[in-house]
Amino acid sequence: MVATGPRSTNASRARTGSATIVAVSAEAHRKPRKQGLEHFIKFVRDLPEPTPRALFRQLEEHGYRGQDAARRAVCLMAYRHVRRIKRIYIDGVDRTELPRKSNFLLAGPTGSGKTFLVEALFQKILRIPTALVDITTYSETGYVGQDPSTILTRLLHAADDNPMLAAIGVVCLDELDKIASGQNNAIFAGAGTTKDVTGMGVQRELLKMLETSEVVVPLELGHATYADHVVMSTADIAFVACGAFSGFHQIARRRSAREALGFGREPLSGADPDAIAVGFTAEQVENVANFQAYGFLPELIARFTRIVPFQALDAATLKDILRADVVQRMIREFKAEGFALDIDDGVLDYIVAAALRKETGARGLAASLTRQLEDVAFESFGAEAPSDGAGTGPTVRVRVVAGELDVSLS
Ligand SMILES: Nc1ncnc2c1ncn2[C@@H]1O[C@H](COP(=O)(O)OP(=O)(O)OP(=O)(O)O)[C@@H](O)[C@H]1O
Ligand SMILES: [Mg+2]
Repeated sequence: MVATGPRSTNASRARTGSATIVAVSAEAHRKPRKQGLEHFIKFVRDLPEPTPRALFRQLEEHGYRGQDAARRAVCLMAYRHVRRIKRIYIDGVDRTELPRKSNFLLAGPTGSGKTFLVEALFQKILRIPTALVDITTYSETGYVGQDPSTILTRLLHAADDNPMLAAIGVVCLDELDKIASGQNNAIFAGAGTTKDVTGMGVQRELLKMLETSEVVVPLELGHATYADHVVMSTADIAFVACGAFSGFHQIARRRSAREALGFGREPLSGADPDAIAVGFTAEQVENVANFQAYGFLPELIARFTRIVPFQALDAATLKDILRADVVQRMIREFKAEGFALDIDDGVLDYIVAAALRKETGARGLAASLTRQLEDVAFESFGAEAPSDGAGTGPTVRVRVVAGELDVSLS
């Protein structure tokens, strides 16, 4: 009926060498859960299977702009993930006959839409169980900080505590660049040897998780007793790591006088869709060495089947995001308070120019506009409802006057 592969979901099937680990304790059944195999099969059968192209467009509907090359690569990965899952669990195809699962590393400047892409694509559009974990909060087992094995606990929670569903999910390892080991004095000048403990330790534990292996996962995030564990296979879990890797350019440049290195280079044209599934290209191997210089275990970086470079968003894209997302949101909020909000086009350029100067990407856009409107919002909101939604309330005008933003109420 269904090829379940090496997954272990109950005690009798736990194969972890010593056979002393209780895979699912009574504790696991405490909560009423949609646990059954039928639920799982139905979930997989009902998983939407839009084409990579359709996913690309749907992202636009969720407000995603620009980043075309990266977006194409990640949409294709998402499509492949769903296809692979369906082939294994619905068609009963053996894993060995299928392409290996994908682990992606998204690297690029801050505020360029890495985390947003993972959230929108996997969580909102595909609705696959997705755990977004900030990897900086983890440290090597036994040290202060969360134990890396609880990364999969989060995925379990995202999957309504159903281990079968969790085992086809997606784990986003956010801020991966922050666990670079301190051995590299080029970026952590003077940090010397003290930083190694957490960085390298977590990297080593991730190594186990990223390759196909069985991991003993605590059922709860807090103090788990010995029995409260489940054994999960990571054979079908897709890992997507994100990182800004600041300072990477310098390292790459220093390592090779030749240019066209690192994530600043133009990515290969997307002409050959298969190029994504096969291993590293020559430049990517070179990248691995750069990542090593940055403070990563080369074998950890090698576990990523594809390193996707993200570009800094340009002025036109930032303006588009501002207009389509931030401004619309603000207009709605003011309308709910009984005000019309009129924002001049020049204001958008002004805010975009500031964002480019600060190099914060799309991140600061909303904050910047909000700050400008704070005073008038403070004075006016909730005072006495100027109009009850009839649309003829007072108007808040924002424009640029003599190089400064000017907010007036009329
Ligand atoms: N390409 C984009 N299209 C639309 N909005 C974007 C885009 N990139 C960023 N944004 C906006 O900026 C916010 C921050 O982006 P995001 O969290 O994805 O940055 P990041 O690339 O993960 O940066 P960091 O490396 O600092 O984590 C998003 O929540 C979103 O509102
Ligand atoms: Mg991020």
